[in-house]
Amino acid sequence: MKRFAFATVSTIAIAAGSSVVAEPQAEVLHWWTSGGEAKSVAVLQEEFASNGGTWTDMPVAGGGGDAAMTALRARVLAGNAPTAVQLKGPAIQEWYEEGVLADISSVAEAEGWADVLPASIAGHMKCEGTWCAAPVNVHRVDWIWANADVLAANGIEMPTTWDEFNAAADKLQAAGVIPLAHGGQAWQDATVFETVVLGIGGPEFFQKALVDLDPEALTSDTMVQAFDQMRTLRGYVDENFSGRDWNLATAMVMNGEAAFQIMGDWAKGEFLAAGKTPGEDFLCASTPGDGYLYNVDSFAMFDVDGDDKKAGQDLLAKLIVAPNFQKVFNLNKGSIPARTDVGLDDFDICANLSAEDMGATSASGSLLPSYAHGMALRGSQAGAITDVVTAHFNSDMSSADAVQQLADAVANSY
Ligand code: GAL
Repeated sequence: MKRFAFATVSTIAIAAGSSVVAEPQAEVLHWWTSGGEAKSVAVLQEEFASNGGTWTDMPVAGGGGDAAMTALRARVLAGNAPTAVQLKGPAIQEWYEEGVLADISSVAEAEGWADVLPASIAGHMKCEGTWCAAPVNVHRVDWIWANADVLAANGIEMPTTWDEFNAAADKLQAAGVIPLAHGGQAWQDATVFETVVLGIGGPEFFQKALVDLDPEALTSDTMVQAFDQMRTLRGYVDENFSGRDWNLATAMVMNGEAAFQIMGDWAKGEFLAAGKTPGEDFLCASTPGDGYLYNVDSFAMFDVDGDDKKAGQDLLAKLIVAPNFQKVFNLNKGSIPARTDVGLDDFDICANLSAEDMGATSASGSLLPSYAHGMALRGSQAGAITDVVTAHFNSDMSSADAVQQLADAVANSY
């Protein structure tokens, strides 16, 4: 693609001599507004600026990105898409099908992405064979975070089964500690739910229920048990949980008000941004059970006019996948690099555990896409599931009713 060759007068900078180049510009829509997230996205802003780019920030607050996706739709409908957008999983394909994504294959090929990205990640970044998104990281979703002092003071080890978790939570509650820091927002309910489904049902069941949407799995006794565990967890959250942002829940664990949080490793980004040390101040462990739920953040470029914007897209895509950014960004973000050739020596124990488990689960077939973070299903299907999960969590709905509603909602979501 010879984007630079067609720069128009309004978008060019006259370089020394007679050659002309477009100045890279990018308006970037993302939802990274918490302490750890903001520190992480600043790494990209700085790299973009130091490579001659001008960054226009379009942050849309709201964990999990629901508000950001609403803002995106409004912008695209108005015929004014942002240059680059934090977008992931099947949503990339959905936007591609609407014919609004730019093709970044020329950058991907020049930078040799196919050689440094695992095939499973590359698959999400491709649309009918062309590269349509650039991966930033791999977040793991199925984590429990704990306040180390609170556990020690109450004689509690990190739980390795859901029964152990419940026993620990009962003990903490009796001691006046909030067992589970949680924010009652639909995407946070969904995050906890998918770790429970994975833990109670196992990886094969997760695949059948929340990836393949098999009606038998959705209405099975195993799914009933998963909702039973959600009801138990509901009893461990404090009464002010409704609407709370995820990073405020993380802060409750940090300051010892609560013992545990079940959340992806962007929570680690919050602990780190607050100067906390893993293994000392806070503990990380995968949620009980086998498997690994992955959540790959990525950026897609939208079709925009102007060689400055196109130059901005190319530069952003190149920087995002380059080794330096993959390392520094992920040290802040709590995730691990998407590239396989970035060493993890400078990464902490939680990141190293994540990488190890990712390798092992990839080999055993239990590396699974997160439904709650938009990696497994189309938006309408994921939304249908989450509506039921949230309705159940916030009422006295029985588990039997919940599984029936789940199957009905999924059937109506196609
Ligand atoms: C996830 C996203 C993470 C983090 C989190 C909370 O969906 O992948 O990067 O930002 O939401 O906002």
